[in-house]
Amino acid sequence: MALSPTRVSPEPCSVTLGGTIPPRPPLLMGGLPAPPYPLGEGLPAPPYPLGEGLPAPPYPPGPLGPPWGAYSPHALLGGTANRGLVIRVGDTVLRPAAPCRPATHALLDHLSAAGFDGAPRVLAAGPVTETLTYIDGHAAVPPLADATLTDTALVSVADLLRRYHLAVASFDPAGYQWPRPIPARFRTGLVSHNDVHPANLVFRDGRAVALIDFDLAGPGSAIWDFAAAARYWAPLQDDQDIADSRHGRALERFRIFLHAGGLRRADRRRVAEAVVANHDWTYAIVTEAAAAGHQGFADHWRMVAEPTARARRWCQRHQRDLLAAAR
Ligand SMILES: Nc1ncnc2c1ncn2[C@@H]1O[C@H](COP(=O)(O)OP(=O)(O)OP(=O)(O)O)[C@@H](O)[C@H]1O
Ligand SMILES: [Mg+2]
Repeated sequence: MALSPTRVSPEPCSVTLGGTIPPRPPLLMGGLPAPPYPLGEGLPAPPYPLGEGLPAPPYPPGPLGPPWGAYSPHALLGGTANRGLVIRVGDTVLRPAAPCRPATHALLDHLSAAGFDGAPRVLAAGPVTETLTYIDGHAAVPPLADATLTDTALVSVADLLRRYHLAVASFDPAGYQWPRPIPARFRTGLVSHNDVHPANLVFRDGRAVALIDFDLAGPGSAIWDFAAAARYWAPLQDDQDIADSRHGRALERFRIFLHAGGLRRADRRRVAEAVVANHDWTYAIVTEAAAAGHQGFADHWRMVAEPTARARRWCQRHQRDLLAAAR
């Protein structure tokens, strides 16, 4: 799949539901300082101005290594699709706009109007970049901080997802184009986040407070989000790949997570059934993008290919245990 040099997301828009697109509500600008950059235009050319208190370059490699540091001292860690291209400017974040941005922005506007505070707000949007509110806290970027590994943190992720699903339930996805569809058997129509990996969650005081990066959001289900989140947060992995306090606790934490999410028993069971399909859906995106020459995904895949294969085998081997834990 060809990748544009400016827009690095591998995901084209592929799903259009029936209906007409409602007019986009006015941009939400209240209460924020006027940014010192052109709103909704392309990313300013590097080098970006150095912020106060930032170390002089060269910057240390992040978890994914260079070249993120080459872009900007303000580049935020945690991205793969847009590695090095998501930058903080004061209370705002500039990032490349995704191919399905009309849908994503309508979704974020809906969440804001619904009073959901666990997602960024769209401040401005152009064909190339979007400007979002910066969410105060720490995204769970590897190496994961101890505060994100506790059962309290796990329960807070479930609670955040539950609140997101409540807020999004009144959003109508009809008329928009959405990214890669999730398997039909796990689709209820609810627009799920679809990418609940640690670096897409912001924590404060050991609790998950916001979801970020809605580029893969689309018609799916609460079940699908819980399956994805459980894989990352239990985590549903081979113990040889869990070197922290979660070692040996995958099934126990899976049970805690599902019950904290307030899911009915039948839905908890569906989450257990969705785990392997969710794994495959997610890593198809990664491997296809890597094969198409996306450097961020290629580097990421090199790092995670082996533990990822072990994780899939673990999930298959423990399918019955997952179903039992979901009871
Ligand atoms: N609105 C925000 N508020 C706070 N931090 C943010 C925000 N948006 C992004 N970040 C930070 O920037 C990092 C990268 O952003 P983002 O997730 O948008 O990149 P991406 O490359 O599209 O990610 P992915 O690899 O998940 O597709 C996040 O992990 C987080 O640390
Ligand atoms: Mg992200």
